[in-house]
Amino acid sequence: MYKIGVIERIHNKGLELFDQNKKFQYEIIDDISKENLIKQLPKFDGLTLRVANLGPEILQKCKKLKVISRHGVGYDNVDVEYLKKNNIKLLITATANAVSVAEHVMYMILSLSKGINEYDKMVRSGQFRNAANKLLTFELLNKEILILGFGRIGKILIQRCLGFDMKVNVYDPYVEKKDIEKYGGNKVENLEQSLKSADYLSIHMPLNDNTKNLINLKKLKTMKKNVIIINTARGGIINEKDLNEAVKNNIIFGAGLDVFEKEPIEIDNPLIKNKKVLLSPHSATFTEECTIRMGIQTVQNIIDFFDNKLQKKMLVNYD
Ligand SMILES: NC(=O)c1ccc[n+]([C@@H]2O[C@H](COP(=O)([O-])OP(=O)(O)OC[C@H]3O[C@@H](n4cnc5c(N)ncnc54)[C@H](O)[C@@H]3O)[C@@H](O)[C@H]2O)c1
Repeated sequence: MYKIGVIERIHNKGLELFDQNKKFQYEIIDDISKENLIKQLPKFDGLTLRVANLGPEILQKCKKLKVISRHGVGYDNVDVEYLKKNNIKLLITATANAVSVAEHVMYMILSLSKGINEYDKMVRSGQFRNAANKLLTFELLNKEILILGFGRIGKILIQRCLGFDMKVNVYDPYVEKKDIEKYGGNKVENLEQSLKSADYLSIHMPLNDNTKNLINLKKLKTMKKNVIIINTARGGIINEKDLNEAVKNNIIFGAGLDVFEKEPIEIDNPLIKNKKVLLSPHSATFTEECTIRMGIQTVQNIIDFFDNKLQKKMLVNYD
């Protein structure tokens, strides 16, 4: 019998897979404070993980731990170096969430381009007749979008953008030109140059030492005045303070953010008061369909791991 710690509840359809399998016994851990995790986790052979932070102080107490199954694809909340050194495997829900994230990007692009929130307010406050010519709004037709990072989400997003007849540039040094062209995109080599011509920018790369603060005030100042920037990847890839300054001072048109340097975002963060920035609480994958897929895949990955049947794409490669 394998003991699995489910750190924060996942969808019941996932947990049912454990219920149906006599080899597994699970326990849900709702309190994700460091003190509680240090106390609770040592007994488990495997863990499922949402947003809790698993640093070395916690992990070194987990002597039985063989596998962590992330409910998601990002894993910057786990000490990967520790896992690597101690031969603990890390699994992700690789095929569960790209569609929901790509749809969230389109929602943000459309909402900001069409002035949805402002028009909604006008209707509700009796300004129906005065709305014409009050807002600057845009079509997507023939507009240039620059996608940074052409992995699972980038590849789904491009199809949505092409559906709106946008021109898609892709910056991803690790993906070949032919693999981008196959999807209808144009590979760009020079980030600085491509930023200058973009009408939209959408970020889909991991946060690491190379990508932290990749988009800063210096680069924002080179971009078009009406550019709209969307970040659903990780906070910190765009410098948040710089982005806020750029939007506030009309250096760029607006931004949509699902992710933040510090989550939850603090209530005194200036972005909260910036009406030209559309915010969501890291909720791009919260759709019903995606939550079910992620719940099922998180559990199935643990079962497949212990049965030696794990699909290679679910395993994080530490090299
Ligand atoms: N908001 C959410 O709820 C949510 C959900 C899922 C994923 N994410 C985040 O979205 C991002 C993308 O996820 P994915 O599943 O598409 O990842 P992925 O690993 O499939 O793709 C990432 C791509 O980024 C590229 N890349 C890496 N470094 C780069 C660099 N310096 N410049 C340009 N490209 C670079 C890689 O070559 C890869 O093609 C991740 O940061 C992930 O954590 C957020």
